[in-house]
Amino acid sequence: MKDVIYNEFNKANKLTFYNGDCSNLLKSLPDESVDLIITSPPYCMGKAYEDPHNDVATFRRQHESIFNDLYRVLKPGGSICWQVGYHVSERCVIPLDYIVYDIFIGKSSDKKYPLILRNRIVWTFGHGLNSSTRFSGRHEIILWFTKGDQYTFNLDNVRVPQKYPGKRSYKGPNAGKLSGNPLGKNPSDVWDIPNVKAKHVEKTNHPCQFPVAIPRRLICALTNKNGLVLDPFMGSGTTGLAAYIEGRRFVGSEIVKEYYDIATERLNDAINGDVKIREDKPVAEPAANTAVARLPEEFAKARSKNEETQSGG
Ligand SMILES: C[S@@+](CC[C@H](N)C(=O)[O-])C[C@H]1O[C@@H](n2cnc3c(N)ncnc32)[C@H](O)[C@@H]1O
Repeated sequence: MKDVIYNEFNKANKLTFYNGDCSNLLKSLPDESVDLIITSPPYCMGKAYEDPHNDVATFRRQHESIFNDLYRVLKPGGSICWQVGYHVSERCVIPLDYIVYDIFIGKSSDKKYPLILRNRIVWTFGHGLNSSTRFSGRHEIILWFTKGDQYTFNLDNVRVPQKYPGKRSYKGPNAGKLSGNPLGKNPSDVWDIPNVKAKHVEKTNHPCQFPVAIPRRLICALTNKNGLVLDPFMGSGTTGLAAYIEGRRFVGSEIVKEYYDIATERLNDAINGDVKIREDKPVAEPAANTAVARLPEEFAKARSKNEETQSGG
């Protein structure tokens, strides 16, 4: 029988997409029912789906208003992964993960340290807006917290290929033996994964999707098969798609009907066997002899002129 997407949560559901405010969905979830929460919330930057008057104070208030329910629905040993970037204005950039961190570890409430930060993962990508007044932004952050000290971490599910798998120890009792893990290396806390721009195979009409590879890696590492994954701000349904591909249950909410419909269509495509994703494989280095990798002559001239200027010539 084909999998079905329900629009109201029931613990027997494999897949639930709720079209509405996440605070309503959260109220409908039982205590300690969710294994992993992954989301990328609105940054309050005037995107199409945001009130243009929203600012960093709104971001903080929105997080404070849902945090108690997020904490309540998470199982002991469960994880929360919050993917955020920067609030960028003419004057300055504000790291949103600082605000999330304060709230989630209980600094801004009477609860003391309800969650424990395990990693501050830097997600780096090659493309984005070019700035002429500061260094162009090419990373965002994923904060990974656990509820308690006993938590699921399946490192072997997410190992990545070593650059030099044949490397051997050169001293000590293991001298001469292969030094790496046969399954690959720990992916580290810096993840180089292309962001979803116009030509990306996963691109939909949603203005700011994250790639499936991000929630997929987190789901594989932090849950077991059939675990329940929640995304309160699911947008185009990327986390739901990753959960489905990896045999986990999913519940998510999206307030904008247009995005909710995109999410539903994406997941139904996957249910029907049509999965459009970029596999989580290392970003290829351009071959040195391809035309795009060669330095254009005018760039070479401009660079040598710049060098001359800088050396006072
Ligand atoms: C940054 S986007 C998430 C994108 C998503 N990770 C993806 O890959 O498509 C945040 C989403 O949260 C939705 N949203 C904003 N406020 C919401 C609320 N109170 N409840 C549910 N969804 C909300 C927005 O419409 C937007 O689609």
